[in-house]
Formats: sequence, structure tokens, C-alpha cells
Amino acid sequence: MDDTNISEFHRRNTLFYNGKKFIDDECELTTTLIKIKIQKSDLRLQRWLIIIVLLVLLLMSFLNNCNINPFRIIRFEAMAKSITPDIVMQEHLSLLPRVYTPMGNDGFLVRNKGCYLPAMDPFDPEPRHFIIKESFECEYGKSLPLIESNNTALFINPLVSNEFNNINCCWRPFWRTKNDDNAITFDQQCYPFQNSIAINAEFVKVECSRNNQVTYKDYYVFLPRKPLVEERCKQALSKNKFLEDRLSILVLGIDSVSRMNFHRMMPKTVKLLHSLNAVEMLGFTKVAENTYPNLVPLLSGLNQDELQKLCWQTPKETFDECPLLWKNFSTAGYRTIFAEDAYTMTTFNYLKPGFRDEPTDYYLRPYCLGAERDIGNTRKLNANLCIGTRKTFDCILDYSRKVVTEFSSELYFAFIWQASLTHDYFAYPQLGDDSYHDFIEYVSQKDLLNRIVLIVMSDHGIRWGKFRQTYQGKIEDSLPFVFIVLPRWWREKFPLAWGNLRKNSHSLATAFDLHETLKDLLNPQSLHESFLKERIKAQASSPIPRGISWFLPVPDIRTCDMAHIPNHWCMCHTSNTVIWNDTSLQDSVSFFVRELNDMLSGYPLCATLNLKLIKDAKIWSDNTDGAKLLDYTVTIQTTPGDAIFEATVRYKADDNSRKLVGSISRLNAYGIQSACVDEFNIRLYCYCLY
Ligand SMILES: *[C@@H]1O[C@H](CO)[C@@H](O)[C@H](O)[C@H]1NC(C)=O
Ligand SMILES: *[C@@H]1O[C@H](CO)[C@@H](O)[C@H](O)[C@H]1NC(C)=O
Ligand SMILES: *[C@@H]1O[C@H](CO)[C@@H](O)[C@H](O)[C@H]1NC(C)=O
Repeated sequence: MDDTNISEFHRRNTLFYNGKKFIDDECELTTTLIKIKIQKSDLRLQRWLIIIVLLVLLLMSFLNNCNINPFRIIRFEAMAKSITPDIVMQEHLSLLPRVYTPMGNDGFLVRNKGCYLPAMDPFDPEPRHFIIKESFECEYGKSLPLIESNNTALFINPLVSNEFNNINCCWRPFWRTKNDDNAITFDQQCYPFQNSIAINAEFVKVECSRNNQVTYKDYYVFLPRKPLVEERCKQALSKNKFLEDRLSILVLGIDSVSRMNFHRMMPKTVKLLHSLNAVEMLGFTKVAENTYPNLVPLLSGLNQDELQKLCWQTPKETFDECPLLWKNFSTAGYRTIFAEDAYTMTTFNYLKPGFRDEPTDYYLRPYCLGAERDIGNTRKLNANLCIGTRKTFDCILDYSRKVVTEFSSELYFAFIWQASLTHDYFAYPQLGDDSYHDFIEYVSQKDLLNRIVLIVMSDHGIRWGKFRQTYQGKIEDSLPFVFIVLPRWWREKFPLAWGNLRKNSHSLATAFDLHETLKDLLNPQSLHESFLKERIKAQASSPIPRGISWFLPVPDIRTCDMAHIPNHWCMCHTSNTVIWNDTSLQDSVSFFVRELNDMLSGYPLCATLNLKLIKDAKIWSDNTDGAKLLDYTVTIQTTPGDAIFEATVRYKADDNSRKLVGSISRLNAYGIQSACVDEFNIRLYCYCLY
């Protein structure tokens, strides 16, 4: 998807106002959930109420010094103790601890002025149908590899050594052919070894034979120190004063996995990430169709057209001149690593010429070329699922393990993108859950997370197949996942940056933002509180940029247009005109009243409520024809008692079902109407009969 689509679909999303007000720049006293309905006729009462509201807000801000959590508790208590008995304020959600639920924030992943992104259930009946148990075996069989490797050596796998008796093995280095991204050159010599051998080459092929017949072939990759790289890093770091705040960057990409599919298929990994205090960016939306145009913004901050104009004018040209992010890290003294498996479809090589020189200090491609072309197997659709008897994705995780241990006490930027397992099949990610979990657990247990920012992410959801043809499949295609793990000491040292990151988990977010975020990590002094405050001030008085670092507040009014998400991929729901006699609206209102009465059914002292009138209604849906998910946000008045309630009823066309999302708000005073019940929740709804 390119820029033409952005202009083609140049339709501003309707901004949605939810009574949000910002009273102070730094002290966001959000009155979102304080809903106050004032009788228009009674001007005197109105003035009186405004004065009270202002006094209460003043008191609360004074008491709380902008600290959100205590603020909320006090606000609730102030209400419960009826200091201002005629004003009903509610905040059901924020009274609950902020635990993660897949349904997100009150039924919405993002609920901002600029974007309403409904949360959907990963285990809805529609997708559940596609959750099948998968498995595959390598065509080369299940036997263990004869030879294993660690960071410095090849050795006979101790578990299979008895087969090794009259077999002769040798190792042969190979390397990337100069100026060619698609060729490798093997050493003429194959060096015999027994038991184990120390290796100082980057890429190695092993051949073992019995009676002069090759019976075993395998490929290995190492990270030997390179004098020029070491010298560059030393030079760069000797000039830098802010070393101790710098983190290595480890990006683990898992191709074609939506956020919801990640939760469905890789629950062990998700759970581990949450236990590491990962921030999950719930509004992360793809900005284009497939991998290349989504990774270009992440790696360059540009869209694919801009990149093309800048540094890739003809399709024959390589990407060497392009300003990809690892160049900045390289200059700053980081060792750089770029690894992708499934060599036929890698980002810069699929229908493209790749690189003339290796783009990073360590570049996995020559290994994949050698290994996949020779012993790649189990190709079901686009990728070799296996290399010999190993799973391809396990090979790239083994490489990741070597990276994090080799450079554990140095700075590195590693961009490691796995596609072989997850690119083609909706349910295949389940087969990687254990491996990814184990790798991240390994990194965590070895205390390596202390010096790195770990980013686990995808580029988009599955892009074809039966699931993609469902409504939920379409939504998931647009919504990949990103989890960010930062060390505890870093979070404590940069509380404002960390706080913004956490808040932005409920913002519309893109790969352009992630680019800015990574740039900030290159330059951590810009994240210190005083600097950051200056940046926030500057941001407030200038136009909203396309990419915004997640360490800064992403503005509440951000729409897909502002974030450069083409309408086609925008999953924010927009407000449509309500046709008042629409039967579905009527049905939704009846459903709402029934839900209210169901809630009150356990309280015999409360009257059964009837609809008096519909005061307001909005319908939210996505931009497509025949949207299958409609949210009706309705405000109704009921009788007896003339209570005014607001809620959102989600209608699903598929099975004609309705449910309430989030809580029911009471918008007018209940006074003494509900004095007969004690529970806070029920007080909002009950009209006492006696
Ligand atoms: C790697 O394996 C070799 C051979 O078994 C061994 O001598 C060496 O200590 C190992 N290195 C590490 C870091 O484990
Ligand atoms: C990154 O490097 C490019 C040149 O490749 C340069 O134009 C850009 O300003 C650098 N960005 C940062 C944040 O250092
Ligand atoms: C809704 O009202 C409009 C005009 O008020 C009318 O033309 C239309 O037929 C009505 N639709 C239904 C379903 O009653």
C-alpha cells in the first residue's frame, strides 16, 4: 500500500468528543469519566454546580499533586462520602486494578478523541473455528544433529556420540561472495576434526562421511570478533559521555502474527512477557500491505515511496545508500546484527536486489543461503520449515542466543526477523510458543535483560487464507503486536518516559512511532525528565508529526490520517449518522434496558425500569461496506425516576447478538432515590420503590 492510497482515502475521521478536558499541561486532570448532566432550564442550579465542580477539582488536584492513582481513590471516596451529593461521578473502570484483560480498556483498545478501536475477543466463535492443533515433522527425520555448536566451537553432540565411531568429519568455512547478496563462496579446504574444534570463522559447513560417502551435512553460524568493528566501537564509545544509560536493542520479529493471534497461539510467551512488565501497544496498526512497506518505516522513518525517491531510484539498485537505522547505531558504537530466515522472501530481497555490501556487522543471510539451498526441506508453501533435522525458526533463535551471550557486556543493535514458521499458516505460531518462551526466559534468567530493551513484534496479521476472509480476519490483518520490555533500573531512572510509554499502550500507534522510539534510545539523555519536559512543551506548540516517540505523549486527537495509516488499514471506528427509527437501534436500546433490569433483579426494593425516551445515539463502525460489528452508544432516560443512562451496546451481524461493552454510566443525579441499597454499583441504577 503506498501513498496514493493515503490521498485517495483522504477522509478525515470524525473526531469523537467524550467530554474530555485537559486542565493542565502536565497534570492531566481528565474529566472523561466524570459525567455531569445539567438541567438546561435551571440556570441558577447550573452555575451552582459549576462552582462545586471547580471546587472539587481544585481540592482534588491540590490533594494529589497529579499523582494518578491516589487521585482516583480519593476522588472515589469523596464521592462515596457524598461531599457533593447532587453530582454523580463515575469511574467504574479505574477503580479496578489495571490488570491486563484481552478485552482491553472497557471494551476498547483505544478510546481517544481521534480513534475508537474496539477490543475483540481472540476466542470468539468465528476465529475459534480456525484454531486447530498443528504439527509437522521435518522431511529429514527426527534424529538429533550429529554436530552441535556453541559460541566458539563445534562438537559432537554428546547425545549421539556412539554413532560417531567410524565416521570422518571436516569443517569448511564459507563466506558471502563479494558484492553479491545471493551467493556464497566455499573454502577449497575441508578441515578434519574429532570430538570438538574451536572455530573462528563466521559461517561453517560440516561434512561427515563413512566409507568415502557423505552421510551428514550441516551448517553453523558464529559471531567471531571482527577487528575493524571492534576498533570502530572503541573509537565511538571513547567520545561518548552517556554510556551508562544506553541499552542494547534486541528486536525479535515474528512475521504475520496479529496481536490477537499472538495471544491465541503463543500464550506462554505472552504470559512471560507480561511477567517481565512488558508494555503491549494495543493500538499498533500496520501502515501498508506486507512486510517490506511496514519495515521500511520502522527502519528508516520513511514510507516506501520516500525511501525509493531518496535512495532506491531503480529496481536494480541495492539498498546500500538507504539511511537504515542500524547505520546510526553503528556510528554510535553499537555492533549491528541483521538476521532473517526464509532467504527467498526476506524483506530487501523478495523481488528486490538486497544489498551490495553486508548491511550490518553480522548478517545472517549467507548462512541461510548455504543451509537452505543445500539441506532446507519441508517446504509447504513459501518457506523451508526445516534445515536438516532442525526447525528453521529454532536455528534463528539459536543464533539469537549466540548474539545475546556473545555481546552480553557490550552494546549491540540486533534486528532478528523470523518468517519461516509463521508466514503462511494461521495456526502455526503455536509451534513456536515453547521456543520463544524458552529463549526469552533464558535471556531473563541470565540477567541479560538488564542491559537491553527487548522488543517482540510482528508486521501485520495473516494476509490470506480462509481466516483472512472473515470479518475478524480482516481486522486482525491490520493489527500486529508489539511488546516492549525495559530493565527495572531504566524504568526507575526515566519515570516520565516510562509513564508515557505505558499510557501510549492505549494510543493509536505505528511503525513510524517505533522508529522514533528507537532513535530516542540511541540518545538517552533526551529522555531525562528535564529534557523530556522541554520536548513535551515543544511538541504541544508544533504540528503533530507522523511518527511520535512512545516516550512522549501521543496526542489524544490522533487519527489514522495523522498517523499516516491509510483508511484501508484503519480499524478505528468512526461515528455514523443515526437513523432514529432504525430497528437495530431500537433493539439495542431494548437490550440495554433489559440488561439494566437484569442487574437490578436481585434487589427487590428497586423498581423495574422502563424506557421513557432515547436522548442521544451514535453508531460506530469501520469504514467498510457491510460492517459486521456495530457499536451503539446510546443515552436513554428511564422511568420511574427519570434516570439518564449511557452505555455502548455492541451488535454483531453474524449471529445477531448484542452485548454491553464497558460499564453503564449514570449521567444525572440519583440523590436519595437509591437510598434503599448500599452497594455503590447498584446505587447508580436503583430507583427505590419504598
Ligand atoms: C564450547 O564447546 C567447547 C567444546 O565442547 C568447550 O571447550 C567450550 O568451553 C565451550 N564454550 C562455552 C562458552 O561453553
Ligand atoms: C541517522 O543517520 C542518518 C544518516 O544515515 C542521519 O541523516 C540522521 O540524522 C541520523 N539520525 C540520528 C537520530 O542520529
Ligand atoms: C424511518 O423514517 C423515515 C422518515 O421519517 C421513513 O421514510 C422510513 O420509511 C422509516 N423507516 C422505517 C424502517 O420505519
